[in-house]
Formats: sequence, structure tokens, C-alpha cells
Amino acid sequence: MPSTGRRVGMFSKIQFLLLILGLPSLIIPAFLVLLMADKRTNNHEVFLQPKPMDSKVAVTIRTSAPNIIKDLKIPVPASIPPLRRCMNTIWSEDCIDPCHKYNVLTKERQRKQIIFSCDKNKLHMRTLYTKKPKYIFKIQFKDSCLHRMTDRYCDDGKAVPNIVHYVWFGKMNFGFTHFLSFLSVFKIQKPCLILLHADNVPQGSLWKYFLQIVSNIVHVQRKQPKKIYKTKIPFIEHKADVAKLEALKEYGGIYLDTDEIILQSLDVFRNFEATVSLEQNGTVANSLIMARRNAPFIKLWIESYRTYTRADGSKHSNMVPFQLARNSKNRVHIAENLFATPNSKDLHKIYRENVDWSKNYAIHMYTRLHDHFFEEKFSLESSQTMNNTAGAIARHIIYGTKELCLQRG
Ligand SMILES: *[C@@H]1O[C@H](CO)[C@@H](O)[C@H](O)[C@H]1NC(C)=O
Ligand SMILES: *[C@@H]1O[C@H](CO)[C@@H](O)[C@H](O)[C@H]1NC(C)=O
Repeated sequence: MPSTGRRVGMFSKIQFLLLILGLPSLIIPAFLVLLMADKRTNNHEVFLQPKPMDSKVAVTIRTSAPNIIKDLKIPVPASIPPLRRCMNTIWSEDCIDPCHKYNVLTKERQRKQIIFSCDKNKLHMRTLYTKKPKYIFKIQFKDSCLHRMTDRYCDDGKAVPNIVHYVWFGKMNFGFTHFLSFLSVFKIQKPCLILLHADNVPQGSLWKYFLQIVSNIVHVQRKQPKKIYKTKIPFIEHKADVAKLEALKEYGGIYLDTDEIILQSLDVFRNFEATVSLEQNGTVANSLIMARRNAPFIKLWIESYRTYTRADGSKHSNMVPFQLARNSKNRVHIAENLFATPNSKDLHKIYRENVDWSKNYAIHMYTRLHDHFFEEKFSLESSQTMNNTAGAIARHIIYGTKELCLQRG
């Protein structure tokens, strides 16, 4: 049967030819697809399709009917993260062991991150799932998209929106007190958004750990203000003072120093157009300021910087606002001294003694002074057995009880 043999041979030749000609047309597109896919995964902005979130973290995803705002839910951060076992990386409120061990450095999991996008008529707030432990959504300080987002998602009818602002300038490690501050915001104040006004984002394992817990934090990118009304600002503290007032003027909300810890919800003060508390007789504690957007008190405070000089000391930080508050009582509510007691003169009451802080709404930990005057470290480990105000507050925020942890062998 030679003809069959020949036919087979012919087929083979044709098949071979087809293969030679056809292969590149299969391989090249496949190669291109792979190449592009690779580029995509390297781009921070493109991730997996957002999956619907559980009801605890209600984020409404809207792609149509952009002008209907009535039925939009305000995103509520989960007060209890999903895992509830002790000895886990994720803190849990109903853990049986009140002082379970944290293992901050345990393997990172996929995290959730809120992202925004705005086009002409539509706003999108979505949840993005990422395995990049440090990824955080970034937006410019005065970006109109951020304005539209906060107007739409964070307006719950109160004068002061439930937005928490922090200012973070420079390359710094996220310390234990910072962690407590941010965790107290997440657990107690439950804000619509946490806006981190920063030139650099924090660093360190506690920062990555915090990002594992919280999804509604956004990096508001801004530079350190160099000048105020043509006067150069030489000190970073004063730059931060200006930035915090600018943040409140622009968006309204609750400004916190990164070592200010919330102990009770501040919602009771959100009906006033501005609220501060006193640090001492004659000074305002500027570590916690609440104000509605464009509040006259904040505008006056910024305006007062026309007389700022480099020898200012704490004049415009604490004294000028006290005068302003006294002269315009209807423009600002004074919450006694309930945001910063004990004050810096009584630092030993925070780090040496136990004081009753049950009436406090917040407390200022004066981290810089602590680091200067006290030798013992205030850390995740040491706070379990520190028999003082600082230890009790740390345990209250982390474990939900101020009681001393048992010493384990
Ligand atoms: C605050 O200081 C003023 C005078 O400096 C004094 O009259 C007033 O009693 C002080 N108030 C308190 C609460 O100590
Ligand atoms: C903790 O300090 C208080 C005083 O602030 C003291 O009464 C108490 O006995 C101390 N507790 C322990 C376990 O040392």
C-alpha cells in the first residue's frame, strides 16, 4: 500500500509546515498576554476584582445612578475583625485570654484597602484586595475627588463629620503609642475615614500590622508647609500645627496628634461647630481639635499666624487659640480639660502612678517627653504588666480591660 504511505508522508509535511507557520502566531500573542499580565501585577492600582464585603464593613459600591445619595451607607469599619481565636495575629475583642500574645510579625495576609475614583458624574468607592502589606491608597491634599468622597460618604448630618485626621511628617517608625492611638480611633471612634496627611508613610511592623486590621485609611499626600503668610516656618512641630489646621479647614473632622489616645467616643462633641479642651489654665490642648469644615474658629486661628515669628514657642499652638476661644465663646465649645489630662507638667501621673481617667474622652501621652525623661520602654510587651496609667490605657485599648496581665513564666 504505497499510496497510503505517501499520503501519510504528505500529511506529515503539511502538518509540519502548518506547525512551523502556525506556532509563532500562537506563541507570540500568548507571550504578549503574559508580558502585559506581568506589567499589571506590578502596578499598584490594579488588583483583583473587589469582592463584596461582609456587612460589618458596609461599603456601597456604585457604578450607576451617581446622583442618588440618600441610600448610600457610610462605611463602618468592622469593630471586630473576623478571626476570634487567641494567639492570632489579628486582635479580637472576645478573645478568652484577656492578654493574649500578639504576634505582630506573623505571616501577612491579604488585606482590604478602600480606593476612590471619580469621573465627571460618578464616584466610586471600592474595596481592593491586595497582598502588598504596605499598599495604601494615595490622593493629593486638595484633590476634588477627596472632597466629593467625604461630602458624599462621611456626611451623617452632624456639624463635624466623623473623619479622623493625622499629620505625619518625615521618615519615622510607627511606634507603640502611635499604634495605640490609631487602634483607639478604629475601636472607639469608628470613623468613616482616617486621613493620614503625610509626606512619607510610617514604617515598621506595627504599621503593617495596623494596615492588616484597617481598610478605611487613606494617605493624603502633602508637603510640609514651608511658610505661613510669607514667614518661614523653621520647626517641624510648627509645620505640623499649620498642617492640622489646614486639614480641619479643608475637610472638617477630628484632628489627633499621633500620641493622643481616644478613650470614649467623641460623637457627643460633633454637634458643635468646633471643640477644643484646655491643657492648662491659659492654654488649649492642640493635640485633639474637632471642627466642621471652614469653621470660623479654625479660620481665625489660621489668620492669627500673621503674627507668627520663629521665636513663637507655643504661642500660636496653645495660647492664641485660648484667647480666641475666650473672645468668641459661641464659635467653639470648650470640653474642660477632658482631652489632655494629666498634662505635660504631671507626666509622672501617666508613667509612674495610676490616675482615674474614667471621665477622660482622650489622653495625650507626650511620647517625646516620655522618651526624654523615662528610661523604661512603653511597648506591646511591657504594657501588659506596667502598673501605671499608661499601662492601664494600653490594656484598655488592646484587650478591652485595664487589668494587669498575669505574668507568665
Ligand atoms: C486661671 O488663671 C486666672 C488668672 O491667671 C485665674 O483668675 C483663674 O482662677 C484660673 N482658673 C483656674 C481654673 O485655675
Ligand atoms: C499597682 O499600683 C497601685 C498604686 O497605684 C497599688 O495600690 C497596687 O497594689 C499595685 N498593684 C500591683 C499588682 O502591684
